[in-house]
Amino acid sequence: MSFRLTYATMYNPPDAMHERFEAALAHVEAGLGAHHRLFIDGADRDSARHVARYSPIDHELRLGEFALADTADVEAAMSAARAAYPGWHATPVAERARLLHRVGEIIEERVYEIAAAMVLEVGKNRMEALGEVQETVDFFHHYADDFERHAGYTHVLPDDPIAGFASHNASVMRPHGVWVVIAPFNFPLALAGGPVAAALVTGNTVVLKGASDTPWAGRMLADCVRDAGLPPGVFNYLSGAGRDIGEALVQHPLTAGITFTGSVPVGRQLMQQMAGGAYPRPCIAEMGGKNPCIVTEHADLDRAAAGIVRSAYGMGGQKCSALSRLYVHERVADALIGRLQAQIAAIRIGDPRRRENWLGPVVNATAYDNYQRHAEALRVAGASMLCGGARLGLGSAGRTALARGYYVDPLLAELSLEHPLWQHEMFLPILTVHRYRERDEAMRLANDSVMGLTAGFFGGADEVSWFHDHIEAGVTYANRPQGATTGAWPGYQPFGGWKGSGSTGKAIASFYYLAQYLREQSRTVV
Ligand code: SER
Repeated sequence: MSFRLTYATMYNPPDAMHERFEAALAHVEAGLGAHHRLFIDGADRDSARHVARYSPIDHELRLGEFALADTADVEAAMSAARAAYPGWHATPVAERARLLHRVGEIIEERVYEIAAAMVLEVGKNRMEALGEVQETVDFFHHYADDFERHAGYTHVLPDDPIAGFASHNASVMRPHGVWVVIAPFNFPLALAGGPVAAALVTGNTVVLKGASDTPWAGRMLADCVRDAGLPPGVFNYLSGAGRDIGEALVQHPLTAGITFTGSVPVGRQLMQQMAGGAYPRPCIAEMGGKNPCIVTEHADLDRAAAGIVRSAYGMGGQKCSALSRLYVHERVADALIGRLQAQIAAIRIGDPRRRENWLGPVVNATAYDNYQRHAEALRVAGASMLCGGARLGLGSAGRTALARGYYVDPLLAELSLEHPLWQHEMFLPILTVHRYRERDEAMRLANDSVMGLTAGFFGGADEVSWFHDHIEAGVTYANRPQGATTGAWPGYQPFGGWKGSGSTGKAIASFYYLAQYLREQSRTVV
């Protein structure tokens, strides 16, 4: 039996879906320890160095051996992508779209196995992992359909009869060449697959670099692309550390464009580097968020609490879309906080392989240490700890089991507005709260950030347009219990940041996204 993942199935999954997942997990666990290579010019390629990787769920759970690419591998991948470019670029749009639809179908055939591996590699829960794999499938179909529907964005323009000579005019969108995609750890499949699909369907060839924490997810994507039958060199995959190969990819003379998803400092640096070289090259940088939610006195508080908890604590707050700043009207603050406390206390933290656990570990030791540091900073600042921070500090049996992974306790804290944590993206399950008196004060505070990715609002129907008109964010949600600031889906919510959160103002899976992978050629013939 197969299920299409939708919000309905994700929030209320049938038992048979769990059983399919559990069978796939057992299969994937039985195969742990394998050696995972790079994928270059249509073939597996071994690298000079490898690393043994362990799961954030349990430090003793060995996932396998993963290739660490070096500059020679970068060179091989770039040359293969360059050699494949003329043929791929000349391939008719319909054929490129057909191959990308095939990639989407193959990912969907493997949805349970890929999701099981992602649970082990990143520590997200099974529904989040299944959702991400389905989102990746949808990206491939979405971009393939979009480009075909627009016939490659070619436009015939009016003839132009100057001085008696009729000139025939057209606008044609052409690819750039070799496109480098640098993927993040938190959506290692979807935020690799989306840009890869976009770059490929528009006729570029691709070198994908997976995040150093998630080489497995990228390799699974490479397997799906390979099995769909794309010509050798059109898609190449490198795993390794940014410090080893990042510079070589960005500085490479064949790099015609980059899509980067990750932190603001790295994104800014990449934009500067791409502006240099022989000539400036495009850089699509999807960066962080410090996403606010405003709750007015007219809000449905049950809805608000559900949306806030999902968005602040889902995947341990490790989403660029995660909610981290809450502004609630003082008249409803106690009632909302009471609901949040009850829901946070009910969150099941633990091994995400288990059906009942909603919150798995954070991704690595650095994230774990950051959590301890920020929790301590909140305490030192005299923040009122409304919820969290105690459960994992006790020496219970549960604690002993969880001590083998990077588990942390979701925090809700009322914090004075002067504190720097209101501005700092933590990427952790930590939500800070402020009680406001005037609605305009809440909006001013919500916009008081260099970021502008997502924003949430809970209030009266007649307040929604006020929220939309004043909030500085690329992705907005009003009165949405499925997620106050998270859960954008291709084809439904274009996803892109304003201000420091995004470099181009054109959202993922939006009407304008694919155009960023193309350059316009105006053609006039007399
Ligand atoms: N699609 C994810 C969300 O909106 C993140 O990119 O939460």
